[in-house]
Formats: sequence, structure tokens, C-alpha cells
Amino acid sequence: MNLRHFVSLADLTGTEIRQIIQRAIELKDETRAGTHHDGILRGKALAMIFEKSSTRTRVSFEVGMQQLGGNALFLSPRDTQLGRGEPIEDTARVLSRMVDCVMIRTYEHEKVERFANYASVPVINGLTDREHPAQLLADLQTYFEHRGDIRGKRVAWIGDGNNMCNSYIHAARLLGFTLSAACPEGYDPDPEISAVAGPALELVRDPRQAAQEADLVVTDVWASMGQEDEKSARRQAFSGFFVDAELMRLARPEAVFMHCLPAHREEEVSTEVLEGPQSVVWDEAENRLHAQKALVEFLLAA
Ligand code: CP
Ligand code: NVA
Repeated sequence: MNLRHFVSLADLTGTEIRQIIQRAIELKDETRAGTHHDGILRGKALAMIFEKSSTRTRVSFEVGMQQLGGNALFLSPRDTQLGRGEPIEDTARVLSRMVDCVMIRTYEHEKVERFANYASVPVINGLTDREHPAQLLADLQTYFEHRGDIRGKRVAWIGDGNNMCNSYIHAARLLGFTLSAACPEGYDPDPEISAVAGPALELVRDPRQAAQEADLVVTDVWASMGQEDEKSARRQAFSGFFVDAELMRLARPEAVFMHCLPAHREEEVSTEVLEGPQSVVWDEAENRLHAQKALVEFLLAA
């Protein structure tokens, strides 16, 4: 057994990401055709630690494990010893003796790294302040399904240089597309991640420049979980960073629009775009389920 974690999208190679996406598409098609996959992870258990709220991540991992024949356990700090100060290193070693895989959603990215260092089973990042790699697998799957391989394409990121943006930068480098990220001054993506992106990343200040000739336009909330106190300052800083029909017209006619959700209509995106013909957000949300089944299968087979 070769222990593999998925703390960052950069824990996988571009080839492995493409392999997982193809498998996700296959699992989705087969599931829709009525095939049962409950032999794949029979008897396997996934522990899910949530220190932040979630709808999609929780439901997709839980149902995904069920569809593969395994189990998922929801653990919140409110009713586990984690919330009473038991060290993450101890929790990692204890859970590793009982379950086959652990997913963590938390604030500090370093916490997931520390957990992974002490775990002897695969650890999956279900979102940290720095990255949201599981969402990227679903976004990429969605692009591949709608438009084919993303290699050589132009992706526009509009808004905060947040966890999603950081994971998009890794994706651009690993899969060979260009990410043009338009972020207001002071809200740039992680400098360490940007530093290794090379020509895959273009940092601009004008959303119109980023959207120009884009094949995919992506945005996210202006204030992420944990930034509730910054809401009004952020509302001012991001006022021009709005994805509306006018911005979408600068992109290529066949461009699609994505948002990891939850979305704030008329804040970062207009209702017209979110509900419009270029929006693929519901497929993107559904693909969390299939992409993560392919991910867990990949990690447990390693
Ligand atoms: N996109 C996403 O991760 O959604 P949840 O916060 O609902 O899990
Ligand atoms: N950037 C958002 C994504 C939510 C899925 C956040 O971290 O809250």
C-alpha cells in the first residue's frame, strides 16, 4: 500500500487528475443507467470532520460512500473530543485505526497537513482557507463533459483570490490551461501558489481583461466562511467584480459559467447569468458526487 493524501490538488499529477475525471464520468453514466457500484468499497468507512458548514460536500461524500457500498460518519467538533481540545495528531492516529479514509473541512490548511502527517489512511481536504481541491475535480469534470479537455483553454477567475482561486491555479499548471485571475488589490491568491504557476497564471485587476475570450468564467462569494466580519469592507472592495451578462459577452460564445455554490445572487453574480443558458452550476454541484467517488476509489486503491 502506497499511502496517498489529497490535501492539495497538487498531490496529484495532471495524468492522475485526468484519470480520475474519466472514471468520474464513467461512474456517473453507469449510475444513471442503473448500475450499482456497491461492491467497490464494501465494508469501508470514511470519517468526515466538519469544522465549517456544508451542504454539497457532506451530502456528496456521504451518498458517494453509500453508492460504493461503504459508510460515512459525520463528526463535528461540537460532539467529538476535537472540540474539547484533543490534539489533531492524536485524533489522526485513533481514526486511522478505525476507518479507511478521513475527510476534513476546517480553517487552517496546516491543520489538515498535520492530520495527514499523523494519519496512516488517506486524508482528503474538504475545504480549508487555502484550498478546495475536491471542488476542482467536480469543476474539471463538468468542463470536460460540456466542452472536452481543458488543455489550452482560457479560464477567467473573477473576484476573491481565495481557496477556490488557489486550487484553480494548481489546476491550470497541472492540466495546461491559462487562468486569468481578476482580483482587487489586497485580495490576491496565495503568493506561494502563484509563484510556482509560471505562465499558467495571469494576475490582472480588471475583470473585463480576464473575461476576454475566456472559455470558462468562474466566480465565488466575496466573503468566505470565517470572513463574516469583513463582509462590508469586502462588499466595497469587490463592487466591480460582478459576473453579469455584459461581462459574459466578452468571453467566447461557447463559454460556460461555474460557481461552486452557495451563490449570492446580485452580489458576485447576476441571477440572469446564474440561471442562464451558459451556467452549468447544477451539473457542477452534482459532479461533486461522482468526482469524489472516483477520488476515494483512487486513494483506497493506491
Ligand atoms: N461547494 C461546496 O463546497 O459547498 P458546501 O459548502 O455546501 O459543501
Ligand atoms: N470560498 C468559499 C467556498 C464555499 C464552498 C468558502 O470558503 O466559504
